[in-house]
Amino acid sequence: MLATLSSSELIALEDRYGAHNYHPIPVVLARGERVYLWDVEGRRYFDFLSAYSAVNQGHCHPRIIQALVEQAQTLTLTSRAFYNDKLGPYEQFITEFFGYDRVLPMNTGVEGGETAIKICRKWGYEVKGIPANQAKIIFAKRNFWGRTMAAISSSTDPKSYTNFGPYMPGFEVIPYDDIPALEAALEDPNVAGVMLEPIQGEAGVVVPQDGYLKKVSELCRAKNVLFIADEVQTGIARTGKLLACDHENVKPDILILGKALSGGVYPVSAVLTRNEIMDCIRPGEHGSTYGGNPLACAVATVALQVVRDEKLAENAERMGKIFRERMNAMIQQTDKVSLVRGKGLLNAIVINDSPDSETAWNLCLDMKERGLLAKPTHGNIIRFAPPLVITEDELHQCCDIIEAAVKNMG
Ligand SMILES: Cc1ncc(COP(=O)(O)O)c(C=O)c1O
Repeated sequence: MLATLSSSELIALEDRYGAHNYHPIPVVLARGERVYLWDVEGRRYFDFLSAYSAVNQGHCHPRIIQALVEQAQTLTLTSRAFYNDKLGPYEQFITEFFGYDRVLPMNTGVEGGETAIKICRKWGYEVKGIPANQAKIIFAKRNFWGRTMAAISSSTDPKSYTNFGPYMPGFEVIPYDDIPALEAALEDPNVAGVMLEPIQGEAGVVVPQDGYLKKVSELCRAKNVLFIADEVQTGIARTGKLLACDHENVKPDILILGKALSGGVYPVSAVLTRNEIMDCIRPGEHGSTYGGNPLACAVATVALQVVRDEKLAENAERMGKIFRERMNAMIQQTDKVSLVRGKGLLNAIVINDSPDSETAWNLCLDMKERGLLAKPTHGNIIRFAPPLVITEDELHQCCDIIEAAVKNMG
């Protein structure tokens, strides 16, 4: 089907009528299937962003779309003022799937983070016994968990927080992957929780040293502090395991999921934890009009079944190894890229240039011309995160494109 407006006309409309809060790669997408996207002129691209890891199951996965359509024709939203026939079975399914007692359903990833912090603070006062309004949550430098006031209050990125103050109190920020810094911070008896990404996605796919998560979890337990894992980007098979924490056999006290929980078709997030923690939340104390709606429950259930049935974690693990091997071989032949890092299919290359340069952006523009879509996380870092359904043959085609573009760099 031909679009009536061209890419440049559609970009002009966004520019004229939309807020300028994003700086997209100039491509206007109209269709998606598996690892492929098509622009309005019908050009095909490999998607190497997967909507920031929301589309792990591939674009428009037929099983997930079928669940969406069937449920949309039956019942979409009741609100939690009433029970609905999809929520209970979904809650049973997701808690068993991830091995937790209870789930609190929300919509976006950042709401998941907000929810986790509220639950953690409440537990801090009502179970741990922290004096009123003194609870502290510890975050890591260069964290990213969204754009709400609480999220930007813990941010160390000036672009995220400048001129949006005053900020939320009760947050402390320490260096990532730094156990002595955490030990020092945990000396404060008013610490209720430590909230971390197992791999820092937006910071540029920063992978901590082996054993870091395990140590964080042990220290938290020793100090009666909750370890909150933000697996909104790393979770649901992206890093080659169902959860990135599984690489170290760590079970967070509170787990936050979002993005791929719906396979990219609908905003669904979830906070999972144990009875004694979730029981701190009582009727009227937290919620959301759309949280736990029948459409979200139907979609998320099938999205998780697809991850399991299609062995997406295993594929991500295998494809990720091939990807990093290819990139490491490329690095041997060029001085333009200094590093590839990541786990599973959450990877990034670091270009030999300053974080403020335009180099990564220009490389993404060149890759786009060659049929692959990716986005810089910084001036010198590009994240590569294709849908986890990618085949080995497709992955090699993509590595060929990346190599050609890197060799072409000025
Ligand atoms: C680790 C992490 N947490 C939370 C979020 C926020 O998710 P959302 O944009 O759905 O609110 C993101 C988004 O990129 C993320 O990467």
